[in-house]
Formats: sequence, structure tokens, C-alpha cells
Amino acid sequence: MSDLLIRPHVLLMSEITVDGKLTLKRGASSKILMKYMAHETEILLHRTRAECDAIMVGSNTIAIDNSYLTVRLVPGNSPIRVIPSSMADISLNANVLGTDAPTVIAVSERAPAERVAAIRAKGADVVVCGAERVDLPALLRTLREKYGVKKMMIEGGPTLNWHMLRHGLVDEIRLIHLPFIVGGEDTPSLVGGMHIDSEDEMIRLTLLRHYLCGNNLVTEYAVRYGD
Ligand SMILES: NC(=O)c1ccc[n+]([C@@H]2O[C@H](COP(=O)([O-])OP(=O)(O)OC[C@H]3O[C@@H](n4cnc5c(N)ncnc54)[C@H](OP(=O)(O)O)[C@@H]3O)[C@@H](O)[C@H]2O)c1
Repeated sequence: MSDLLIRPHVLLMSEITVDGKLTLKRGASSKILMKYMAHETEILLHRTRAECDAIMVGSNTIAIDNSYLTVRLVPGNSPIRVIPSSMADISLNANVLGTDAPTVIAVSERAPAERVAAIRAKGADVVVCGAERVDLPALLRTLREKYGVKKMMIEGGPTLNWHMLRHGLVDEIRLIHLPFIVGGEDTPSLVGGMHIDSEDEMIRLTLLRHYLCGNNLVTEYAVRYGD
């Protein structure tokens, strides 16, 4: 059976500066940059969330941004919020553990039982997959098979983006370009992880569309693995 039949279709969506950064500096919330998005682009972001069955961000983005990940600016249901957190050490006060949308916290087998119980007590589902770290391909299969997720978006951060791309789990990329340069060698950029050793390892994209949304340039790409 093809991989696509057993996992959701995945769209990676991100705001990005001209120098490829996702935030002002390491440790800073991306909400500071998001304030500068055109209203039309905020609508696009919320419409995209409403079109998806699930939305995933990394646990460090939850720690720094404390995102809600809900649909607020357009009519429609909020997607299932999915957060990989290997040790289940996400804050119990995190906004994603509120009751305004369903939430799945994915943990590894190393996660302490009392943390898992505390998250469940907040009303979120906990999915255990992976021995040391959350096994992303297995998580995506569970989301498809158990939760019926056909389309999922990921909204970063760079560590999650890298691992999803490295496992060949991203089908499309949509970037909202912000007309700023923020600099900083260690400022998080679109994709983190390890460097590659040769051009054979570059992940190749095909530009599908580009358009203005308000005054923001938006670009859309298909990801071509194995070219
Ligand atoms: N501009 C934007 O669109 C945008 C969007 C999102 C985030 N951001 C920014 O990005 C920054 C945070 O990015 P980040 O790279 O530090 O963190 P991140 O990608 O949000 O989260 C990474 C964490 O997820 C957990 N995780 C569990 N299993 C994983 C797996 N298999 N693969 C990858 N991660 C896994 C890990 O923590 P455990 O080891 O605890 O499991 C890992 O450290 C913040 O500054 C935020 O503001 C910007």
C-alpha cells in the first residue's frame, strides 16, 4: 500500500523573513513577527487551518509561543491539535490543553506515567509512539487510522520541520514572506537539523503558485522526494 494511503497529506505553512528566519532571535515568540502579517494573510492562515483535520507544531513552539492553534477569523471547525513531546513535559497550563479544540499529545515510551496521566486529566488524548523520541511516521499512521486525519498542516518550528522533511512526510509547502531582515546566525530558520553533505541530499521543490495576499507574497511548492 502506498505511504500516502496510510498517512495524512501534509502541508507545511510558515511565515518567513527575507533572510529565511521564523522569529526575531532564538527563544523569541513568532507572534512578534506575525503581528506584521496582512489581515488577508491571517485570514488565509485561519482558512487553511479550517480546511485541515489536524495541525501539528513542535513542543518548543508551544513552550515559547503558547499557541492556541484554533480557527478564529473564519467560520469552520478547529483541527485536532497534535503536539509531539517525547517526555510529556508540555506545560499543563499550555493553551493547547484548553477545551476549545481536541488535542493529541504524542509521547515516547520514556514519558513518565504521572505526566501522561496529568495530560489526560486535562482532557487531551495521549498517543504513545516511539521508544526514545516520538516516531513521526508511526504518529502520522495513527492519526490517519485512528483519528481519520486526511489532511494535516504543520506550523513549525524548525526542529519539527526538519524531522518531518527528513522522514519524507511533507507533501506541500506554503510560505508567507514578510518584508524584513532580522539576521542572527543562530536565529531559527525554516528548517533546522543537521547540515547535508552533498547536493544529492538537497530536498527539491517545484514552485506551484505565487500570489499577493494583502501586501504579503505567498509562495506554494510541491516537495519532490527522490528526484
Ligand atoms: N514563523 C513561524 O511560522 C513559526 C512557526 C512555529 C514556530 N516558530 C518559532 O520556532 C521556534 C521554536 O522552534 P524549535 O525548532 O526550537 O522547536 P519546535 O520544532 O517547535 O519543537 C521541537 C521539539 O519537538 C519535540 N519533538 C518530539 N518528537 C520529535 C520528533 N520526532 N522530531 C522533532 N521534534 C520532536 C522535541 O522536544 P522533546 O525532546 O521534548 O520531545 C523537540 O525539541 C520558536 O521561536 C517559535 O516562535 C515560528
